[in-house]
Amino acid sequence: MTDDLRFETLDLHAEGASDDPRVRGWLDAIMRGFLQGRPTDAFREKWLLVARADDAVNRGVWDATAPGMAGAVPVATFAHLTKTLNTGAASVPAWMITDVTVAPTHRRRGLMRRLMTENLEAAVAADVPLAVLTASEGAIYQRFGFAPATREARLRVDTSSRFRLRERPHDGGRVVMADPGSSWPALATVNARHHEVTRGALGRPAYYGEWLRGYDWEEQSEDRRLRLGVRLGPDGEPDGYVAYTVKEEGDSAEVKVHDFVTATGTAHLDLWQFLADIDLAEVVVGPAPASDPLVHALVDHRVRRVTSVPDHLWVRILDVPRSLEARPWFADGTLVLEVSDPLGHADGAVRVTASGGRASVVPTADEPDVTLDVETLGALYLGDVAVDLMARAGRVAGTDEALGRFAALADGSPSPHCNTHF
Ligand SMILES: CC(C)(COP(=O)(O)OP(=O)(O)OC[C@H]1O[C@@H](n2cnc3c(N)ncnc32)[C@H](O)[C@@H]1OP(=O)(O)O)[C@@H](O)C(=O)NCCC(=O)NCCS
Repeated sequence: MTDDLRFETLDLHAEGASDDPRVRGWLDAIMRGFLQGRPTDAFREKWLLVARADDAVNRGVWDATAPGMAGAVPVATFAHLTKTLNTGAASVPAWMITDVTVAPTHRRRGLMRRLMTENLEAAVAADVPLAVLTASEGAIYQRFGFAPATREARLRVDTSSRFRLRERPHDGGRVVMADPGSSWPALATVNARHHEVTRGALGRPAYYGEWLRGYDWEEQSEDRRLRLGVRLGPDGEPDGYVAYTVKEEGDSAEVKVHDFVTATGTAHLDLWQFLADIDLAEVVVGPAPASDPLVHALVDHRVRRVTSVPDHLWVRILDVPRSLEARPWFADGTLVLEVSDPLGHADGAVRVTASGGRASVVPTADEPDVTLDVETLGALYLGDVAVDLMARAGRVAGTDEALGRFAALADGSPSPHCNTHF
């Protein structure tokens, strides 16, 4: 690495930030990194608005030797913001890492490693117990202690007359069609309720609000195709919504779901019935929880085809006692876990003493019952993977008795679902 590289953090709250060439350059760099077009002025203003609302911290690396305009565009970008993660038992601060890009001219020189290492140190200094990210590739972030902790299914559902839900009790709620321009308060209510009841749910960055009010971040213009169905529960309060577009495909049409958020099982199924009831369209594609009640609610479950189940939220435990005390435990008992961490943050042994669904977790010098690395601890954290599976993968070590005890303590429903993309 040369001395000509400058690592700097932008002050997005500064007056005149939108005209600062480095701010403009930073935005240009992430658009380039994620293969999008150059931002318009209106897009930049919107981006600044949401980045400020989230208190995002945007860091970049500038190459002082780059000529002319290129000098204002960083060769690497990195950002974080802090929201909350529902662990299944509590809501904890989560350090959300995003906008990680390195220019093709500067890749594989250790820029991302330095930005990541320093950033995780900042998270520890800020007393945030865990970090999360989503990854565009599968082999980059393990070395920093992250592991896939939730998955999200991609569905293709036949909504012709073959789509039928089984008889089920109904609660008197109903679905209404809504206008993206004015429905944001209802959608925000649903997001908050969903976060409260869903293990793996993450507080949403502010750009969701702009998008669900009808701004298309990809096209950098008003989204005139976005439609909304909102479910009102028996008390008249919104408890679910689906945001979708419809595309004509020859004689038929395909419904594409962009966002599907519910706080109750009834809302989930009612919104599926609503999607199936859209005339002229016989296919619905879109995301779904990896563990989806729809499968078991259908008369013919084969109308619902899973096209893929990619990993979604990656978790990196930084503070082991705080993170483990915040998650649910499913049996009473005690166990010593020894965690190894290449970056040192989570290194050491802790005694977990669980009782009544929660645990106290304290550092200990006692002999460990079970050993694992921080990456594996992240994978197990939200319950998407069972201890036994990780043990059979050679990722958790201990006697059969100790592994059985760990499984009894740590494994339990509900399975996690994170539908926030960042
Ligand atoms: C992925 C990316 C950020 C890596 O940046 P970089 O500065 O080249 O990475 P570094 O040189 O710091 O490499 C750090 C480590 O990650 C490894 N690594 C980097 N990119 C990798 C990849 N695509 N696959 C596997 N390993 C990778 C390096 O080998 C290195 O390993 P080591 O330190 O253990 O030897 C960069 O290639 C990029 O901008 N890609 C496009 C955008 C993207 O995918 N962003 C991630 C989405 S969140």
